[in-house]
This record gives sequence, C-alpha cells and structure tokens, in this order.
Amino acid sequence: MFCNARRAVLPGAMATPSAPPVRVAVRLAAPTAELEALAEPLLAPEERVRRDRFLHDGARREYLVGRWLLRTTLAAELGADAASLRFVENAHGALSLPAPATLRFNLSHTKGLVAVATCDGHDVGVDVEDRLRRGRTTEIAHRFFAPAEVAALRALPEEAQRDRFFAIWTLKEAYIKARGLGLALPLATFAFDLDTDPGAVGLSLTPAARDDATRWRFERRDPTPRHRLAIAAATGSSPIDLDVVWCAGR
Ligand SMILES: CC(C)(COP(=O)(O)OP(=O)(O)OC[C@H]1O[C@@H](n2cnc3c(N)ncnc32)[C@H](O)[C@@H]1OP(=O)(O)O)[C@@H](O)C(=O)NCCC(=O)NCCS
Repeated sequence: MFCNARRAVLPGAMATPSAPPVRVAVRLAAPTAELEALAEPLLAPEERVRRDRFLHDGARREYLVGRWLLRTTLAAELGADAASLRFVENAHGALSLPAPATLRFNLSHTKGLVAVATCDGHDVGVDVEDRLRRGRTTEIAHRFFAPAEVAALRALPEEAQRDRFFAIWTLKEAYIKARGLGLALPLATFAFDLDTDPGAVGLSLTPAARDDATRWRFERRDPTPRHRLAIAAATGSSPIDLDVVWCAGR
C-alpha cells in the first residue's frame, strides 16, 4: 500500500552515509458522524468550548475527528488513557505533550481527511490538502511562495501546475508546523525544489528562516486520489521510515 520512502536530498550537500531510519507513524481517518461521536467522551473541557464555537458542521466534524484520532493514536503509542491526555499549547498554537514526554506529534485536517503524525524524539509536522478544493492556486503561489518555487511552477505545463502547487503547499505547511511556528514563519523565507533531483525533496533556507536545512527530512504521499499529504521530520541524517495506517472506529 504505502511504501518506497523517499529521501530528502539537500542541494549541494555532500553525500553522507545514512544513519538508521527513524519511524514516523501517520494515522489517517475519513471524518464521519460515527467517529465524531466517539470523540465526545474523550474531550477535555477546553476542547468542548472550542467544539461549541464552530458554526459549520463540516469544520466541527473535522475538528472532533482530529481530536479522536490524536487522542487514540497518542494513547496507543504511550500506553495511556485517551481521555486523560492533556496538551501544552505554544504561542503559535502548536500542541505538545507535557514534559518529560519525548513523543512529538502534529495533526492536520482538510475536507474528507484527518491525519496525525507522531515521531519519538524528533519534531514532526504533517499537512493534508484536498486538491479539488476551490481556490486560485496560481494567485496563492504568487503571493506566498518563494521566487524559485514560483518560477518552477510557471515552467511546468499548465495541466501539471495544480498538482505542483499542492505538493509545495503541503511541504511548506508541514515544515512550518514541524517548527511549531505556523504562519509566523513567512512562507517565502524557505523554498522546496522538486526538480533538481526528481523523486527527492530539496530544501533551501534564507537567513530569515533561522534554521539548518540538514536537520530535515520530507515525505510525500497521495492517501486518496484527491488528497495530498506531506511530512516534515527533524531526523537529520536518518531517513524517515514512514508507517501509514488508515483508522476506523470500532
Ligand atoms: C498552523 C497553521 C499553518 C495550520 O494550517 P491549516 O492548513 O489551516 O490547518 P491544518 O488542518 O493543517 O492544521 C491544523 C492543526 O495544526 C495544529 N497547529 C496549530 N498551530 C500550529 C503551529 N503553530 N505549529 C504546529 N501545529 C499547529 C493544531 O493542532 C491544528 O489542529 P486543531 O486546530 O484541530 O487543534 C495555520 O493555521 C497557522 O499558522 N495559524 C496561526 C495560528 C496562530 O498563530 N495562533 C496564535 C494563537 S491563537
């Protein structure tokens, strides 16, 4: 099903021997009324407050199924009770487990898909997007992408540009989420290159990104025909061993 992990290749980097792979688990679920109901007994008081603020049923369902998937995934990884888990939130909205937990995680939702990624000891970010969603991808790219990404996008045949947009967008979101900064990190301060070494993901950073590109590895998947997924994990010289599983309530 999901195999052939791709290595991130950094432009200009010397070939170095790889360290042992690091496992990144990705758990996926399609938001349904059944899973939404399973989330209810697991919610912390602040999550109930947030649930009650959603005006759209679809957004509320994505949020609740995200909480169900997050809590059941972490509970399974930690051998803990899903309802007892508590999270710490940083100034940019990123969630983590309180110290001394070493398990890192991130979550993403879009129409029709929720994803949770976990990695022990290494920061991880995940993004999923619906490539059929409405919106002017070219204009968004021109506004937010780095100049090299825009140039590479424009060089493609028109029919390939939508897929390239979502490939770059999911990578960018996965990276800013793995850093815990979200959109506080301007999207044009770093650039992905999918052309120099086809099949690999290159990352270049401007000084404003305040980071070291060699810390990062990336993976991309198409979990359904309409959904695109990207993972960023700070595993350094260790390739990502990606373990992707679809989850359903029982
Ligand atoms: C984080 C961000 C990139 C999410 O993008 P998105 O594509 O709209 O949403 P996704 O579904 O992929 O991800 C949402 C999840 O990412 C997580 N998340 C939120 N902020 C995050 C951050 N800074 N870093 C990592 N993860 C973050 C949350 O778990 C969230 O899910 P939840 O709302 O159900 O808890 C973007 O919304 C952002 O930067 N927002 C700014 C948030 C902020 O600055 N908040 C200030 C405190 S109020």
